[in-house]
Amino acid sequence: MIISVTPASNLATILEPAVQILSRSRLVAIPTETVYGLAANALDSAAVNAIYTAKNRPPDNPLIVHIGAREMLQPLLPKDTRVPECYRELMDRFWPGPLTIILPAAATVPRVVTAGLDTVAVRYSSHSITTVLINACGFPLAAPSANKSGRPSPTTAQHVINDFGSEIDCVIDGGQCEVGLESTIVDGLGPEKVILRPGAISLEQIQSCRGWENTRIYSADDNAAPRAPGMKYRHYAPQAPVMIFKHGISTERLKECMEMQVDSASGKMRVGLLHLGAEWPVSLPECVEATSYSLGEDATTAGQRLFDGLRAMDTMDAVWVLGMDEKGVGGAVMNRLRKASTREIH
Ligand code: TXA
Ligand code: MG
Repeated sequence: MIISVTPASNLATILEPAVQILSRSRLVAIPTETVYGLAANALDSAAVNAIYTAKNRPPDNPLIVHIGAREMLQPLLPKDTRVPECYRELMDRFWPGPLTIILPAAATVPRVVTAGLDTVAVRYSSHSITTVLINACGFPLAAPSANKSGRPSPTTAQHVINDFGSEIDCVIDGGQCEVGLESTIVDGLGPEKVILRPGAISLEQIQSCRGWENTRIYSADDNAAPRAPGMKYRHYAPQAPVMIFKHGISTERLKECMEMQVDSASGKMRVGLLHLGAEWPVSLPECVEATSYSLGEDATTAGQRLFDGLRAMDTMDAVWVLGMDEKGVGGAVMNRLRKASTREIH
């Protein structure tokens, strides 16, 4: 079932079938301001198990729990535990919104949600459909991005349908996601406060909060046991190999590198080009048959369009991307691109 929501829809009424489906331990794909999520009742182990099966998700990669009001937070924490002070300013400034925080988990949060960790990731989305849905359900929703494991995250209902077809009971179509990149994940529980995944709430914004001045983006190489288990998996990749040309690369070097990538002897090569601005900045090798996809004018539009662009390039022989400045959201865009790519050329 596809529930199409328009600005004129009465949310409580139109979402009622989705509430029923979730209450029966089944899955519903939901729009959020970041990407679409594949949601189940977070307090129901059987329902959450169905998410792992549908996505083909490794069982050691925990899920984010979505709440629809601050009051839903306390029951997720161990008895007599308060939200750590270091999260107060972050929550006040960025919730509801594209920020996920890591908290100590109550024993009542199913192990399948946390993948056996003693912490739980929590997000309060600003999307009105998701907020109304969660509050109508009366329970929080566990929701990873609604893509098959390893694929680019979905930013439209059609992306979800392309990955799952009729495998899931219900997709709520809320249009294109406003941010387009998954939430920023922060962990303030360890001796060092870290950003586990950069997102639309940028490094600079997190660093402007008290106690977070020295935070940095955690890298999987830092430690043998990754603090965000999802980091060790390949992500976001279209079927074609993705190559990044580093931001600021000279025209001569870019031309030289493109020539090295093509094998003129084997005929035409179908290349998908992702770039800011109207067109690829230099002329292409002769044997390249190009499909160009503009990421818009700046890092914000690049975030909105990136996953759609990667999905559009599925059938190409190769995908070439021009890197961008890593300030603000640009850092999150480049983080996703690096995970999707096989090489970065300097
Ligand atoms: O924007 C988003 O966050 C989207 C929408 C649907 O809300 N959700 C999303 O979920 O991106 P997912 O499952 O694709 O990514 C969740 C990430 C994974 O890298 C996972 O390892 C990490 O969060 N994670 C979940 N629980 C964690 C925990 N307790 N400690 C550390 N990392 C955790
Ligand atoms: Mg994901």
